[in-house]
Amino acid sequence: MEPKSSIGGLRLRLLVLHLLLLAPGFATAFNYADALSKSIIFFEGQRSGKLPPGNRMPWRSHSGLSDGAQYNVDLVGGYYDAGDNVKFGLPMAFTTTMLAWSVLDFGKFMAAAGELENARAAVKWGADYLLKAATATPGKLYVQVADPNQDHRCWERPEDMDTPRGVYHVDVDKPGSDVAGETAAALAASSLVFRRSDPVYSNRLLNAAVATFEFADRHRGAYSDTLASVACPFYCSYSGYHDELLWAATWLHRANPSNSSFLSYVAVNGLQLGAGDDDFSFSWDDKRAGAKILLAKFFLRKKYNNLEMYKAHADSYLCSLVPGTASFNAGEFTAGGLLFKSGSSNMQYVTTATFLMLAYAKYLRSSNSTASCGISGEGDVSAGEIVAVAKRQVDYILGKNPAGISYMVGFGCKYPRRVHHRGASIPSVRAHPGRIGCDAGFGYLHSGEPNPNVLVGAVVGGPDSRDAFADDRGNFAQSEPATYINAPLVGALAYFAGTTRSGTGRE
Ligand SMILES: *[C@@H]1O[C@H](CO)[C@@H](O)[C@H](O)[C@H]1NC(C)=O
Ligand SMILES: *[C@@H]1O[C@H](CO)[C@@H](O)[C@H](O)[C@H]1NC(C)=O
Repeated sequence: MEPKSSIGGLRLRLLVLHLLLLAPGFATAFNYADALSKSIIFFEGQRSGKLPPGNRMPWRSHSGLSDGAQYNVDLVGGYYDAGDNVKFGLPMAFTTTMLAWSVLDFGKFMAAAGELENARAAVKWGADYLLKAATATPGKLYVQVADPNQDHRCWERPEDMDTPRGVYHVDVDKPGSDVAGETAAALAASSLVFRRSDPVYSNRLLNAAVATFEFADRHRGAYSDTLASVACPFYCSYSGYHDELLWAATWLHRANPSNSSFLSYVAVNGLQLGAGDDDFSFSWDDKRAGAKILLAKFFLRKKYNNLEMYKAHADSYLCSLVPGTASFNAGEFTAGGLLFKSGSSNMQYVTTATFLMLAYAKYLRSSNSTASCGISGEGDVSAGEIVAVAKRQVDYILGKNPAGISYMVGFGCKYPRRVHHRGASIPSVRAHPGRIGCDAGFGYLHSGEPNPNVLVGAVVGGPDSRDAFADDRGNFAQSEPATYINAPLVGALAYFAGTTRSGTGRE
């Protein structure tokens, strides 16, 4: 293959960026600080357990107060994953990891916007639960509360749910290196968030992270093999558990850099754990792209020779997202410019990719480096170009898109009104204190009316491959929110709130 001329490549990229910037609606300025604030409030709407005074989703109340009690374990707290009332450990841990990463890399912008404490509280709500799940019973990691098949037979507010709250765990006989690896990553990342503000708590998190990682590594297996009836097809570990072992070791190194054992683990096991594959989606299931971006950060900072390949992999991931590079994957973008991976809950891939772009741009900048998208320096992409691509995705979410709608609930004047979410779609316990039972709730699901409660800040699954969106509660592929859609967006919004003048969208 002919190497592309550097001048041609650069010109083409600048032209493409130029066209993106001149696209209709460029004059629209978004208030990123407002979007950041709302993206965090959303997590207060997903809380399970006893809500603190001042919980900012006023239509929510306490729920799941006896979770675990019949099994003699306290599993109160944590987050409902999406529009139902199940507590799934794998996506909850991933959500917590991404919230923590958002705070670690973009916390200074959160502080400037007055949102750092709110963001930390969102991390802590997840970390508190995961710490209990990992340490309540020696030898067990609790990985789920409630059977989704039973939960989904009802359409109930969390405050009056009466479906069975089964408790599921992994142990040495029924291993789950996927969910244990992600839990270890979440605990390690969270320990960094609280290192200065609460060192005692931070140490507890780190110790639990190390023990959970050792369990994940020594007793290898996929949790969806033994817990298939409750984990699949909801949060089946489709990518297996290798990616989570790599991810967990990577986070443990970041949390504990003075102990070289985690980096050695990556050096020895990385290839066998899939680190050599080029993989282009990052989600609650598959962590490889995220692990490579972090390992590339370690390489850029300290020039560990055995991590050099991760810089190449991180570049390869990035280059697929940047228009005009040889490896740009145009087929993965809609005509309106949205990264499109899946017809179901596509926004989760948009927010994770956007986060990785911004994190990597930051690492490249701080080491005065570029992403290499061509042969021998001829296709270098700067941090600034990467940020411009990320901004395009964020702006699409907030309303600069062909449908002219904000995909964040409560942001802007046109946004999804029929979010697929039990609590938001049924009158609140404050407006309607009487119980609304299992079957009675379905009337609200199937009604064409807007939700009575606004799930502020929730980002929904998003449009189809033609940039079209149906504001329809029954269309869960498009209208369901999820904690793991929002978590990476928290960091991205903090970045734009902090780097655009007054957070209003003009650079
Ligand atoms: C580093 O961590 C490993 C794994 O947890 C542990 O076995 C080892 O004792 C630690 N080394 C030091 C020097 O703390
Ligand atoms: C960054 O790299 C460029 C190109 O190698 C070099 O000219 C410049 O001096 C570097 N700047 C810093 C701050 O290291």
